[in-house]
Amino acid sequence: MPNVNLSHRAVPRDPEMLVEEIKRLKAERGALLLAHYYQDGDIQDLADFVGDSLELARAAQRSQARVIAFCGVRFMAEVAKILNPEAEVLIPSLEAGCSLEDSCQPDDFRRWREAHPGAVAVTYINCSAGVKALSDVIVTSSSAEKIIRQLPDDQPILFAPDRHLGAYLRRVTGRDLILWPGACVVHEQFSLEALAGLKLEHPEALLAAHPECPEGLLARADFVGSTSAILRFVTESPRDEFLIATEPGIIHQMEKKAPGKRFIPVPGGSGECACNVCPFMRKNTLVNLFECLRDGQPRLDMPEDLRLAALKPLERMLEMAAV
Ligand code: 13P
Ligand code: SF4
Repeated sequence: MPNVNLSHRAVPRDPEMLVEEIKRLKAERGALLLAHYYQDGDIQDLADFVGDSLELARAAQRSQARVIAFCGVRFMAEVAKILNPEAEVLIPSLEAGCSLEDSCQPDDFRRWREAHPGAVAVTYINCSAGVKALSDVIVTSSSAEKIIRQLPDDQPILFAPDRHLGAYLRRVTGRDLILWPGACVVHEQFSLEALAGLKLEHPEALLAAHPECPEGLLARADFVGSTSAILRFVTESPRDEFLIATEPGIIHQMEKKAPGKRFIPVPGGSGECACNVCPFMRKNTLVNLFECLRDGQPRLDMPEDLRLAALKPLERMLEMAAV
C-alpha cells in the first residue's frame, strides 16, 4: 500500500457523500474495484468491472493497478491475490465466506483424494486456497463443462465441493463424476412451491437458473448458466419477463441492461424469508468498503508456497477455458 495517511477521515453519514468519498479514496489508492453480480447495486455501480467468477479472475490477473479492492467473497479475493501477487488485494469484509468453501476443509479433501487414487480432482473455484492447492484443475460455473469435456474419456473424475453443480455436469457431459457432498445455502433452497405459483401468475415468463440449484429446479428451467450467461440470456432473449433463480443482486445489472423487461426473483425457503440473498456476499457494504479503502485493510495475504501451489490448477483452468 502506498504511504498515504487517510485514517483521519470519518465515515460520511450522507449516502451521496459516502459514494463520493469512496470514489476519492479509490483514486488516491490507485485501486481497481472489482465486484461480483451478487453485491448490492450501489457497490456494483462504483466498480470498474462487474463479472462472474471467471471474468473476475481474468480481470484481476490482467490488472496493472497497485491495489485491487475486491467486492465479492473471500475465495474470489484469494484468487485475485494468487493470480496477481504484485497487487495489494483488499476486501471490505473478511467474513465474506461461502458455504461451499466451509463444507470442504483441506484435510478432509486430502483424505478424499487419497481414497480415489488415479482420479483427477476437478474443483469448483468456490473453495479455499488450501483446497485449490490440492486440486488438479479449477473450474467455474461458466467453464466447468468445457474443461471436463477436455479430459480423457477413461479418466475418473472427482468433483468438489458443489454436489448440485456436479450432478448438473454429470447430466450435460455424460461423465460419471464422483461428488463431494457440499451445497450453496442460497441456491439449494429456492422454493419449488413459490416457483409454481409464479409460473401460474406469469405464464409467459422464462425461468433462468444457476447450476448450483438442485436438479428439481433445473429441470423446470428454460436456461441454465453462470451469472454472466444468465445476464446475456435475458438481455438477448426476445421475451420480456423472466423468473430469476439465482442471487437477486444480479437483477440490478439486468434492469440496467434491459430496462424495459421484467425480472422476478424466485423466493427462497418458505417464500417469506430473504434467504435467496447470499449472507456472505452482503457482508460487504458501502461503509466497510469506505473503511477498507481508507485503512488499507482487511488485506488478503497468503504464504508464498500456498499461493504457488494454488496457482497451478488456476492457470490450468485459464488455459483450458480459453481453448
Ligand atoms: P458465477 O461464477 O456464476 O458468478 O458464480 C459465483 C457464485 O458464487 C454463485 O453462487
Ligand atoms: Fe457461496 Fe452460494 Fe454465496 Fe455463491 S451464493 S458465494 S456459492 S454461499
